[in-house]
Amino acid sequence: MTKTKTIFYCQNCGAQSPKWIGRCPACNEWNTYVEEVVQKEKKDSTPIPGSIGRSAKPTPIDAISTGNEYRIDTANQELNRVLGGGLIPGSLILLGGDPGIGKSTLMLQVALQFKKVKILYVTGEESEQQIKMRAERVGKINPNCFILTETSTQAIFQHIEQLQPDLLVIDSIQTLHTDIIDSSAGSISQIRECAAEMQRYSKLSNTPVFLIGHITKDGLLAGPKVLEHMVDTVLQFEGDRHHGYRILRCVKNRFGSTSELGIFEMTGMGLREVHNPSEILISQRDEKVSGVAIAAMLEGMRPMLIETQALVSTAAYGTPQRSTTGFDTRRLNMLLAVLEKRSGFRLGTKDVFLNIAGGIRVDDPAIDLAVISAILSSNEDLPVEHKACFAGEVGLSGEIRAVNKIEQRVAEADKLGFRWIYISAFNKKGFQPKNYQIEIIPVRKVEELFSLLFG
Ligand code: TYD
Ligand code: MG
Repeated sequence: MTKTKTIFYCQNCGAQSPKWIGRCPACNEWNTYVEEVVQKEKKDSTPIPGSIGRSAKPTPIDAISTGNEYRIDTANQELNRVLGGGLIPGSLILLGGDPGIGKSTLMLQVALQFKKVKILYVTGEESEQQIKMRAERVGKINPNCFILTETSTQAIFQHIEQLQPDLLVIDSIQTLHTDIIDSSAGSISQIRECAAEMQRYSKLSNTPVFLIGHITKDGLLAGPKVLEHMVDTVLQFEGDRHHGYRILRCVKNRFGSTSELGIFEMTGMGLREVHNPSEILISQRDEKVSGVAIAAMLEGMRPMLIETQALVSTAAYGTPQRSTTGFDTRRLNMLLAVLEKRSGFRLGTKDVFLNIAGGIRVDDPAIDLAVISAILSSNEDLPVEHKACFAGEVGLSGEIRAVNKIEQRVAEADKLGFRWIYISAFNKKGFQPKNYQIEIIPVRKVEELFSLLFG
């Protein structure tokens, strides 16, 4: 009889210890150690398709062919963009996101759009009927897409051996379990071992594998950090539940840049690719309203115009409230302090609410100029010209700082028919405006912006 072996794992970072400890020495979290049963004996017994008769041997680097970086077109332009131009054969991709954000929908849609290749969609979360219903909703049926409801990796590999799919989707990694390890599905050691088996499979058979992963309440991918280290690409699907827009970000990519992002809209018929985000992120209105300014921002490599809305009102209670959606609250506080201290606008006793359209989170500092314009506009109750847009960072001394890729921002604003763009005066140097219709207005200081807008 084999003796049951147990190990204690930190649920936060995946560190292990032979006995229970209160505080993890690796990540310093308290009470994260959980006992898990590990059985070592059967370790070599998982047959991975494609692994038979192969063993690696040292190869001179110049003798290794890269296959000219062949990429599979996923028929989904936004996904292709995020992956860096398409899917690399033999890559392991982790797709994370909050529950209900649309991970299964995205993967199913991708599986249904593929032409002439065999796809195996393994689900441990839903029934075949549920998947079929979703496929009908999305409106595409592909006879090459196979659905398997199974959670044991050994059984999955048996089916793979028979079916020989060209693409594998696992929904989700947390529901898988392998016979090698006795602990329950979703535990750290199970996740790690199942992911390792999928990694071996994808590398040996040169099949791309998508793993869907859950996100914990802290916004981390549930499971050990090692999971993120094991995979080639980590994609994050995010968005505000109350809005239709979803952003697919690349957090890690061994085969391309992480600066690209894909935009989708969740509709009644699945996810729609949004190729021109600017048009939807600006509300179409003719009358002028105060507190609204358009930012020419850059998400990834893509310029887009987005509406920032501010509401400044006298604080009802002693402590003024500062609340934001899609923007860092600390950055808002910093901008308010700059307006107060450097330019003498009395905002210390006001409630300030800031909203970025479409529920999109923005990190680009170039949005600062639009944010302060919206705040000043709301504070003065004077509208900003609706054909004006802004691109500039605000420094601590109230100076407007240059931002990168200004030409792309100006070109996008010009294309969309804006008449004025306010940029940093320092950006104007070394930048030759081409035949733009749009008038470029350089700004140096916050006060200068104020007098240009409302003076
Ligand atoms: P789902 O893909 O199940 O999310 P996840 O796998 O990330 O948990 O998406 C679920 C949500 O998407 C659900 O609230 C319903 C909505 N939805 C639509 O609005 N339209 C559609 O066509 C589909 C298929 C889902
Ligand atoms: Mg799902």
